[in-house]
Amino acid sequence: MVENTPIYNLFPANFASSAEEAPHPVEQKEYLCGGELKSWSGPFGQVYSPVFVPSPAGGIERYHLGLYPEMDENSMEEVLNAAHKAYDLGRGEWPTMKESDRILHVQDFLNKMMALRDETITWLMWEIGKSKTDSAAEFDRTVEYVADTIEALKNMNRDSAKLELHQDIYAQVRRGPLGVVLCMGPYNYPLNETFATLIPALIMGNTVIFRPARFGFLLMRPFLNLFRDCFPPGVINVIYGDGEKTAGTLMKSGRIDVLAFIGSSRVANILKRQHPRSNRLRSVLGLDAKNPAIILEDADLDVAVSECVNGSLAFNGQRCTALKMIFVHSSLREEFLSLFCKKIEKLKMGMPWESGVDITPLPEPGKPAYLQELVDDALSKGASICNEGGGQSYQSFYSPTVLFPVKPNMRIFEEEQFGPVVPVLEFDDVQAPINYMVQSQYGQQVSIFGRNPGRIAELIDPLVNQVCRVNINTKCQRGPDVYPFNGRKDSAEGTLSVFDALRVFSIRTMVATRDTDANRELFSTILEERSSHFLSTDFIL
Ligand code: G3H
Repeated sequence: MVENTPIYNLFPANFASSAEEAPHPVEQKEYLCGGELKSWSGPFGQVYSPVFVPSPAGGIERYHLGLYPEMDENSMEEVLNAAHKAYDLGRGEWPTMKESDRILHVQDFLNKMMALRDETITWLMWEIGKSKTDSAAEFDRTVEYVADTIEALKNMNRDSAKLELHQDIYAQVRRGPLGVVLCMGPYNYPLNETFATLIPALIMGNTVIFRPARFGFLLMRPFLNLFRDCFPPGVINVIYGDGEKTAGTLMKSGRIDVLAFIGSSRVANILKRQHPRSNRLRSVLGLDAKNPAIILEDADLDVAVSECVNGSLAFNGQRCTALKMIFVHSSLREEFLSLFCKKIEKLKMGMPWESGVDITPLPEPGKPAYLQELVDDALSKGASICNEGGGQSYQSFYSPTVLFPVKPNMRIFEEEQFGPVVPVLEFDDVQAPINYMVQSQYGQQVSIFGRNPGRIAELIDPLVNQVCRVNINTKCQRGPDVYPFNGRKDSAEGTLSVFDALRVFSIRTMVATRDTDANRELFSTILEERSSHFLSTDFIL
């Protein structure tokens, strides 16, 4: 570790100096419903930071960030009614609005959102422990995503601003909304991944009930005013509280048309099963993954090491796309492990706001203990910790830990660690990692490292049918966001990219008529008088 700072000395000793970085604790007592910020009169939950600070009673304690409304089953009816009133069975102002006008609302939101950059970065650091650089990148990527979504919808709209004639039938085909969307994002990208479903759902004319990520409740607070000011009442409603009491109740009501959820497949399965009308429910899901890296015997080791360090440990390994299993050819194993561990030993552990920091505190209170269980299990079954400083934890910190050799009987072989523990296996026959992928419950991505074109080609063809993205000499990742992001098996349902997200939150719907003089005249009049928002050849510039 850089400067050999002991892990127990990483939290700010002098709170006064770090306090200028800390947000003032926030008493969030409101939720957004039907265009109003309503005061919650029930119990409140407390929000604590993964950052520990000196406690007045001695020792250290999690910094108290504030509180949020602990909404319950009974309060969901009001929110559901608000979202349904705005949708009005597809007849509301928002779902029938011209796409060009919905774009103006989202553009207004985007313009106003820019002013929240610094505040959001501070909250990302303190609420989920994301480094300042990564927090800034998350904000900027989200702004770009929203801007690109607007452009993608304009393009889609232009393509459909026409009538087609096939076999005597004129038709105009567009995409229409699906209804009321329940939108829930993950804590590792509480802004970006949430907005990657929320904004497409809104811009396509759906109304939304949005529950922010469980670590990330408070960073959304400034956005509540923007949602209220930029969209018609009830188009977006924001709730807080326990998942079972809020999302579970909403699903059981049968009045949710689309579940947009990024989280675990276990929770997604529970939520889907709770919905009484399964045919009516659409699901857009980003779920578990355990993406492997396969390092072939002719790999460029510098490239493989650098991509694997970044791929497995960026944001402490808390990315669904993280490399969570590394298969290395036995001929390269020793050299790879040595270079890999040396690079990992140079990663800087510290506070999110420190310059050049790589490894930061973990937001899930039970995570260090869980990671320790996985490491202890592997050690008891014959693995060793290969890097200096590995296997250490203190409060919310867990040090990067490389385990070798990992075997199928170890928990880490199958469980998604979602943290800074990196299992390494060696292979002689590439069939071993391929079998691992074939038998895995997950099917998101893979990274292959090698230089022989014939060998790489041989692997591409079977592997594209196991996962949805085969990365060559490159870590696994979601971006650039114009590319499809999805997965097979328990890893996803539906595809998200800037363009695909517009499709998953909408359905093709059309107006058709037989080619007769009377019908042509009827359609021409509607088009000339611009009396329909849907049947229209107006072109968005
Ligand atoms: O947590 C999953 C994210 O979608 C990963 O995104 O690959 O850009 O870090 P990323």
